Amino acid sequence: MTNAPDPVSAQVDQLLKSMSPQEKAGQLTQYFYFRLPGDAQADPALGLDVGEQPRAVEDALSRGAAGSLLFVTDPGEINRLQRLAVAGNRLGVPLMFGYDVIHGLRTIFPVPIAMAASWDPETIEHSQAVAAREARAVGIHWAFAPMVDIARDPRWGRIIEGAGEDPVLGAAVAAAQVRGFQGDDYGAADRVIAGPKHFAGYGAALGGRDYDEVNLSEYELWNTYFPPFRAAVEAGAGNVMTAYMDLNGVPASADRWLFTEVLRTTWGFDGFVVSDANAVRNLVTHGFARDLTDAGARAVTAGVDMEMAISDPAYAQLPEALRSGDVSEEMIDSRVRKILEAKVRLGLFDDPYVDEHRAREVLADPAHREVARLAARRCAVLLRNESDLLPLDAGTLGSIAVLGPLAASRRDTLGPWVFDYDLDETVTVLDGVRHAAGDNVRVEYAQGVPVAQRAFPSMFDMFGGNTPQDPAGFDADAEFRRAVEIAAAADVAIVVAGEWQNMIGEAASRSSLELPGRQLDLIRAVVATGTPTVLLVMNGRPVDLSWPAEHVPAILDIWYPGTQGGAAVADLLFGTVSPSGRLPFTWPRSVGQVPMIYAHTRSHEPGNQARRYWDEASTPLFPFGHGLTYARFTYTDLTVDRPTVGLDGTVTVSVQVTNGSDREATEVVQLYLHQRHGTASRPVRELKGFQRVAIPARASRRVRFTIGPAERQYWNSAARDWVLDPSTFDVWVGGSSTAELTGTFEVNTR
Ligand code: NOJ
Repeated sequence: MTNAPDPVSAQVDQLLKSMSPQEKAGQLTQYFYFRLPGDAQADPALGLDVGEQPRAVEDALSRGAAGSLLFVTDPGEINRLQRLAVAGNRLGVPLMFGYDVIHGLRTIFPVPIAMAASWDPETIEHSQAVAAREARAVGIHWAFAPMVDIARDPRWGRIIEGAGEDPVLGAAVAAAQVRGFQGDDYGAADRVIAGPKHFAGYGAALGGRDYDEVNLSEYELWNTYFPPFRAAVEAGAGNVMTAYMDLNGVPASADRWLFTEVLRTTWGFDGFVVSDANAVRNLVTHGFARDLTDAGARAVTAGVDMEMAISDPAYAQLPEALRSGDVSEEMIDSRVRKILEAKVRLGLFDDPYVDEHRAREVLADPAHREVARLAARRCAVLLRNESDLLPLDAGTLGSIAVLGPLAASRRDTLGPWVFDYDLDETVTVLDGVRHAAGDNVRVEYAQGVPVAQRAFPSMFDMFGGNTPQDPAGFDADAEFRRAVEIAAAADVAIVVAGEWQNMIGEAASRSSLELPGRQLDLIRAVVATGTPTVLLVMNGRPVDLSWPAEHVPAILDIWYPGTQGGAAVADLLFGTVSPSGRLPFTWPRSVGQVPMIYAHTRSHEPGNQARRYWDEASTPLFPFGHGLTYARFTYTDLTVDRPTVGLDGTVTVSVQVTNGSDREATEVVQLYLHQRHGTASRPVRELKGFQRVAIPARASRRVRFTIGPAERQYWNSAARDWVLDPSTFDVWVGGSSTAELTGTFEVNTR
């Protein structure tokens, strides 16, 4: 075989040779481009002059001083800006457009934590493939997603953007999203580059306060926080985004160990790294870099290829850092090379423009809405269902009361981190129930309680529609009484309660997990009427459900279910399908228990684990992996194929799962592992495998898992390395992290 020259490298080399330091710095710079309504007021913390910002960016384009833009979604606008950029760049290098395609562009899918609750990599991949298709159709080349930060403190608002507390579930969800965005080739017409973020440790902010410092041991980084990133890199992610906060005393966006040693050297990452917004400039704010020139030099040296900036980027100073010798030309070239490679792979040098007509067609594709409905069905988690109140039988009901502001709010049904949605086609819970109940059932709605408000404004308020309001003339007391009367007169009451979408997400941490406003009062009053009550929880983090969990017979967690949310929720309420979601986090009883994880170590006193507080049980309200269905599953006959294996050996664990009910349903079969002794104390249980298995009525399935060295190894603080211990291992297989069916096997050194 001959070593043919790589055409991508050849083209990139050619371009690099012709570029000045200023042009190189331009390629490494990404600007926000905000076109906001004239009266928009930006959060002062963003340092954004809404009027001036687009003008400054267009000026940069005319000087070839930008390599990428973000936050433009209109294909006509994307083409216009691209033309300015190509004309303004002496070598005609086109722009790459990035955007926060978090859970859909026009078709909005359930929020990421909800998608993780499906425990269904296939659905997750499919949904992100639809999001990629819509994004690419409008001219976006790169999604700032998935967010793969492990989150173990629900006070942190961004828990909603990730896959929860567990590294194995998190890794599976991360890889599925990367596959969905990128397919086999992100240059294809319906794919985009995936950018897992925020590397690394962002989810462990002190006190759950967004952006606050993070102190994580290497033990936690390697065992818990890194695995989803590693999985995303192994799935081929073309980009990685940095994190804002200090990690162990060093701003993560300038941490050479993270980007050069871990990401590139250890994991072989081959794509490009982008800073989070303004994170390079902010190295000065952190009290780390001396000035902007120093900030740029240190970020580039750490391995950050591109700077995302709102204005006045630090990377504009790179030619200065080059002159002073703080960075070398080779260093800058190696960063520019990564950006140009991505542009070549995207096909931008062949055709940088987008077909505006096709964009309209793709965005309107009804097949996309169907994928969103199927996804929302799979995400909902049935937390409680006393006396089989659910599913409802429309044939026997005369009337249904639907209550609560969130039941009828289109904007809240979609959740945060969406900007390009279509409210007209959004199906609320009220819409979905009305439609599914049919003409013979009377469905009455009351808002019941006022919209609750944040104590401080949201950084997303500058985007219209983010701040919910009560209707004009709203009389809270009269409305409360009306809601209770409607509930009392109905055959069943459905209360939708949770957090408004502007209460969760970036810069939306909370010090309490209580249901905001008077929602709990409404739930209590409705239950007191004696009408059977279903609580639908709209949320992206666990909220305090300690009272409902004892008094409301049926509780279904519907998250923020997206464009087709109400239709999917109705499918579940009326039993068209059975709920199959499972919690991707431990649900605490109250905020005082936070953080609470299922994979804690045994301690010297495991018998008293449930009595760690004297004023509150130290068990969760709902365990990790929990979720009920309308069927009844039983687990029997757990076998481990070999009683003993060597250190590099693999065992197969299998169980019989039986659906003892008369309806087909899907079970999420989960396997947990525990190492009894070794060179470190290991968690009481860790998830090591899971499978979604659809089982017909009255049927059984044998489900198999393998446990090999990859499942048993862990990063050991004493050895400061990965280890595999000879030991006795316990396994459990069941429907949650409290699974009881168990077996053991030995691993010895032979
Ligand atoms: C800041 C957020 O931290 C990041 O997740 C997002 O992608 C960028 N802003 C761009 O909007």
